[in-house]
Amino acid sequence: MQQVKAVVAMSKGAPVEVVTINVPDPGPGEAVVQVQSCGVCHTDLHYREGGINDEFPFLLGHEAAGVVEAVGEGVTDVAPGDFVVLNWRAVCGQCRACKRGEAQYCFATHNATQKMTLEDGTELSPALGIGAFAEKTLVAAGQCTKVDPEARPAAVGLLGCGVMAGLGAAINTGGATRGRSVAVIGCGGVGVAAVAGAALAGSSPIIAIDIDAKKLEKAKELGATHTVDSSTTDPVEAVKEICAQYYDGADGADVVVEAVGRPETWKQAFYARDLAGTVVLVGVPTPDMTIPEIPLIDVFGRGGSLKSSWYGDCLPSRDFPMLVDLYRQGRLDLDAFVTEEIGLDAVEAAFETMHHGDVLRSVVVL
Ligand SMILES: NC(=O)c1ccc[n+]([C@@H]2O[C@H](COP(=O)([O-])OP(=O)(O)OC[C@H]3O[C@@H](n4cnc5c(N)ncnc54)[C@H](O)[C@@H]3O)[C@@H](O)[C@H]2O)c1
Ligand SMILES: [Zn+2]
Ligand SMILES: [Zn+2]
Repeated sequence: MQQVKAVVAMSKGAPVEVVTINVPDPGPGEAVVQVQSCGVCHTDLHYREGGINDEFPFLLGHEAAGVVEAVGEGVTDVAPGDFVVLNWRAVCGQCRACKRGEAQYCFATHNATQKMTLEDGTELSPALGIGAFAEKTLVAAGQCTKVDPEARPAAVGLLGCGVMAGLGAAINTGGATRGRSVAVIGCGGVGVAAVAGAALAGSSPIIAIDIDAKKLEKAKELGATHTVDSSTTDPVEAVKEICAQYYDGADGADVVVEAVGRPETWKQAFYARDLAGTVVLVGVPTPDMTIPEIPLIDVFGRGGSLKSSWYGDCLPSRDFPMLVDLYRQGRLDLDAFVTEEIGLDAVEAAFETMHHGDVLRSVVVL
């Protein structure tokens, strides 16, 4: 066992605190990782606000990169010294999804068996089974994905959640590719990553939609061919118009990614989609929200598919090393997502900054 500093949410709504925690030595199938970077994601704030569940205290942080310090019995895929990005989809190989050959939907992902605790022994709930706003963290070995050690931790660690969710929503779930048009509604970290994913896949046009002009600027930098400020312009009409300029007879985009998580923006996505196109909901709604009223004949008559995307339907072992290679080749600008590097003591302030909409990601660097 060792003691390290970490960011903990003690109770609902209370500001997070930097405290000392106990990290057990790795048991069978586990690894202790020395954390080098961890991005501040909206989900950490959801945990702190009690929006996920009531299992306080939470050890926050889950978009991380670091170096494996020690591994437990039976661990063969990673070894001490390996540079890894942490993931929250350590596929089990046993559940129905895994057995069906669709491990990207694994329902029983692995987490560490032992618990990290406060100094007094109170068990901590690590965010998404990771808990990486800490100098060191204990995870299941399968949560460690080895990537190119030359990569910048603050940038590639973001693949651990939001950036992978957005990229994968466009490419894996939506099937963005050459010859297909893509529209993205909501251009925060997740939406801009979807724009970058569409660009990587060779899609055109790539239409970025937001109500904040600063976000649209960023989306342009990452590959949007067009931007629409939906606070002043009807986004459905705008998408139809732009797509018709590219493809004769087009009546909307082939893929529309909703990265806000609200009924009204999902409805925009539904109607901005061309016949037989795909809507991808990656934004997370709150439990009180319902599907907007839409004539069932429109659902039938427009064909295509209405999908949701968790974690960009990624397989970390397949997708992380590939995306890190593209980053190293200069084809995927992960650095553009890192707005500021901060210390462990600045996570609470970063939650504030997030609200002002000035950052894509604040990243804790250790
Ligand atoms: N599905 C997943 O696996 C997964 C993973 C991570 C995050 N998420 C979710 O994705 C969503 C986006 O996350 P983020 O980190 O980018 O958040 P964010 O707050 O940084 O971005 C949201 C963006 O939506 C814009 N927006 C708000 N209302 C809008 C409207 N009416 N029309 C158009 N744009 C609007 C905002 O200006 C902002 O740019 C969140 O709901 C988050 O919980 C999902
Ligand atoms: Zn499984
Ligand atoms: Zn996240």
